[in-house]
Amino acid sequence: MDEALFRSPRKHGRIMVLLSGRGSNFLAIHDAVRTGAIDAEIALVFSNKADAPGLAAAQARGLETMSLDPKLFPDKPAYDNEIIREARAREIDLIILAGYMKIVTPGFCDAFPYRIVNIHPALLPAFPGLHVQQRAIDWGVRWSGCTTHFVAAEVDAGSIILQASVPVLQDDTEDSLAARILIEEHKIYPETVRLYFQGRLEVRGRRVFILE
Ligand code: GRF
Repeated sequence: MDEALFRSPRKHGRIMVLLSGRGSNFLAIHDAVRTGAIDAEIALVFSNKADAPGLAAAQARGLETMSLDPKLFPDKPAYDNEIIREARAREIDLIILAGYMKIVTPGFCDAFPYRIVNIHPALLPAFPGLHVQQRAIDWGVRWSGCTTHFVAAEVDAGSIILQASVPVLQDDTEDSLAARILIEEHKIYPETVRLYFQGRLEVRGRRVFILE
């Protein structure tokens, strides 16, 4: 068997959430933090969009928030360097992408190896990228679902942590399939973060093992 490349730390973690939109996955994770299911605290909720509903929801829950307009930075690496600085200043253990609609730069990925996770609303490696629910319907797959994964420089190609599947029904629309998938997202994303800070995720080669 491949040698272990990484084992997640067992600790009370410090989380930074990056989001661009409604933030329902962030809220599901924060709910699990509040019940104590996840041994961590959300130290910062960050957005590239000042008017993201998820950011307002974070403020309403009393969490620290920040937004930075990418247009005020000369290029993508400069923008991501600012995020890296904010994360380091707060001693962040895990960066959670939750509907963050920007592709993170390789420099960002390298700064936090196995410390950035994402959720994707399809069963990777099928349907990476955008508009994946409609693409799943158009392709005619009978099953789709969602995937949590570590973030690597190649988009949607990092090691898979958890997946959940849902049926694709004949009369599905993009919205009806997205809603069915979202129910599962709200289960596997908090579970991914819970396992992470229980020190139970071990990466060997491409594979993630869940330790007992
Ligand atoms: C989810 O479908 C997630 O899989 C994708 O973006 C959407 C974000 O939804 N990456 P929300 O903002 O968490 O409600």
